[in-house]
Amino acid sequence: MRCLLITGAAGFIGSHTSLVLLNAGYKLFLLDNFSNSSPIALERVGRLSNLSNEKVKERMTIVNGDIRDFSLLENIFLSAEKNGEKIISVFHFAGLKAVGESFEKAFDYWDNNVGGTIALLKAMEKYSCRSIVFSSSATVYGTKNNKALIETDPISPINPYGLTKATIEKMLANIAGCHSTRVAKQTSPRGWRIACLRYFNPAGAHPSGEIGENPKDIPNNLFPLINQVAIEKKESITIFGQDWPTPDGTGIRDYVHVMDIAEGHKAALDTLISSNPQLLIINLGSGEGTSVLDLIKIFKLSIGIDIPYRFGPRRNGDTAISLANPGEALKFIKWKAKRNIEEICRDSWNWQHQNPMGYK
Ligand code: NAD
Ligand code: UFG
Repeated sequence: MRCLLITGAAGFIGSHTSLVLLNAGYKLFLLDNFSNSSPIALERVGRLSNLSNEKVKERMTIVNGDIRDFSLLENIFLSAEKNGEKIISVFHFAGLKAVGESFEKAFDYWDNNVGGTIALLKAMEKYSCRSIVFSSSATVYGTKNNKALIETDPISPINPYGLTKATIEKMLANIAGCHSTRVAKQTSPRGWRIACLRYFNPAGAHPSGEIGENPKDIPNNLFPLINQVAIEKKESITIFGQDWPTPDGTGIRDYVHVMDIAEGHKAALDTLISSNPQLLIINLGSGEGTSVLDLIKIFKLSIGIDIPYRFGPRRNGDTAISLANPGEALKFIKWKAKRNIEEICRDSWNWQHQNPMGYK
């Protein structure tokens, strides 16, 4: 049986991707320390899959632990070997991801994100697993961009979180024997199969409303905040700035449905395992921009709920426009986003409204 190790599997993107990979016939080792997630997400992944309860038990091994724990990682690879099985690739979602918090807790971000990835790569090397799909971020491009971003654009992150992501990309390129993180596709002379996927703004939820984004602390991102206003947990949204150089003065982002992101991971794996060793660095975005004001209007049209808002000052570190050029994704992994912004609004609301307390 072909096995995969998924780190951060219970999180927002990990849970949706685990479902896609389970339905694609893989056996999954699902590792999470649940620092920002709940084991209930993984129970629901099993239930949502097209497998019987018995098959779910066979195909999902949940491990409660930390990616920095090398002996735990060894045990996972060894337990596959003991069954005569092999972990053919890792999907690496585990990490800390809050931009603001990364300034206050920079050491934790370096330790968890970079330190954790080093432990993981060492274990992979020891057990001859040389394939990894890594969760990178559009934040590696920095803020001085007002056009659709392409993989060859300069890397200049402006916060500790983005610096950890850019550093991991560089480390992966180095291990693969490649020279640049500004090329979408390079051959790996060291025999590694690696995809760094730079997500733009993942949002939405599985259409069942059973799994979705479950921020443990007070959310900072626009989608969870809009949903909290819609469910009357919060009174209004503060729009950060009305004088950005955009048509309506508010920030434009490339929102991409989390199920599209999940399918992008499978597309990346399919490409890696069917090609010669290579390093891929790919934007996962829709290529469509939506401003904050547009989003509030689309939410009202799709869900029928008004989102009261007021304008506040610009948020530190924000940019006017963050938009992907998704051309290389289509070219190299044959992926493009299929779901539109209305579906993102509908599915995120469906999740929020069915689970007002998240997984609690
Ligand atoms: P998430 O917080 O929902 O998921 C991350 C998961 O990793 C959580 O379940 C958490 O408990 C787990 N985790 C954290 N540190 C761990 C450790 N040391 N050991 C084991 N498990 C650990 O985040 P997400 O939105 O699903 O993001 C997944 C990945 O994608 C992250 O690496 C994030 O940086 C990256 N990313 C996310 C976004 C976004 O907007 N959601 C955008 C770009 C990149
Ligand atoms: N915004 C508001 N008010 C809010 C929250 C956000 O007006 O209360 C605006 C922001 O200014 C921005 C847009 O809504 O114009 C989107 O903001 P988010 O916080 O939802 O998302 P960001 O684009 O700032 O950041 C996200 C992730 C980062 C990731 C980045 C690029 O949070 O982790 O996308 O992938 F690095």
